[in-house]
Amino acid sequence: MKAVSKVQRHYDEVAHIYDRRYDRSGGRAYYSHISRHVMEGLPGDKRLLDLGCGTGLFLSRYRSTGGDGVGLDISRMMLNRAQERSPSSSLCMGNAEHLPFRDGSFDVVASLLAFSYLRNPDRVLEESFRILSPGGTIAICTLGKNLFTTGLPAVYQIGEVMGVTHVGMGNFGERYYSGNEMGSLLREAGFRQITVKRISFAHVSLARPLFHLAKKFEPFVETHIPYLAYNLVAFARKPE
Ligand SMILES: C[S@@+](CC[C@H](N)C(=O)[O-])C[C@H]1O[C@@H](n2cnc3c(N)ncnc32)[C@H](O)[C@@H]1O
Repeated sequence: MKAVSKVQRHYDEVAHIYDRRYDRSGGRAYYSHISRHVMEGLPGDKRLLDLGCGTGLFLSRYRSTGGDGVGLDISRMMLNRAQERSPSSSLCMGNAEHLPFRDGSFDVVASLLAFSYLRNPDRVLEESFRILSPGGTIAICTLGKNLFTTGLPAVYQIGEVMGVTHVGMGNFGERYYSGNEMGSLLREAGFRQITVKRISFAHVSLARPLFHLAKKFEPFVETHIPYLAYNLVAFARKPE
């Protein structure tokens, strides 16, 4: 099975449990943390394209700040959930590698927790560059390369063999990026004013007591030992 259709099938299957992971208790705290960091670097009242929008968690937050936007995803079932969450949302089923939009039609591109699945991240960034207006902003939040994420592919492979049904559990050939790798990808696509920072230490997968402990240390980790933070968030601009 092609990697993209495997990811698509997986998210179709877990769409009904996705929000239990990211929109309740610890999961919501984790998601609020990363989306706040993304939101802080974006103009709030613009037209946004959310790549791999899933159930619309970020899109609805962005729209609540006065912005407007479109969500694109390869999973029909995830999009159905997004439509239920926010019936007035504009949603589009498709692959982020081929964006069905005219040049310069968005002010902002954002993508949260989806970039690791991309087979051709360079192609996605070229497409993002094309559909952004001059001066437009892109924000990517994805798992970074570190001690913990290095072991994830093995965990996912074992989970798949054992038939575990869990959001994100599967052998999808996910890629985790260092800050330098992400910076280079953005630069090669034509973006400038690139900043990359590492965020989040309290990961949604941690058991509850560990999550609370990690939450206490999160500000310290992000500031002093960012290598241990799970996600990276990158911002860049298309030149005027
Ligand atoms: C972990 S979910 C993240 C969803 C959402 N961005 C969020 O923050 O909750 C990953 C999403 O990326 C989507 N996805 C993966 N590869 C994609 C691709 N090539 N094009 C579009 N969507 C993709 C999946 O279908 C899934 O909905």
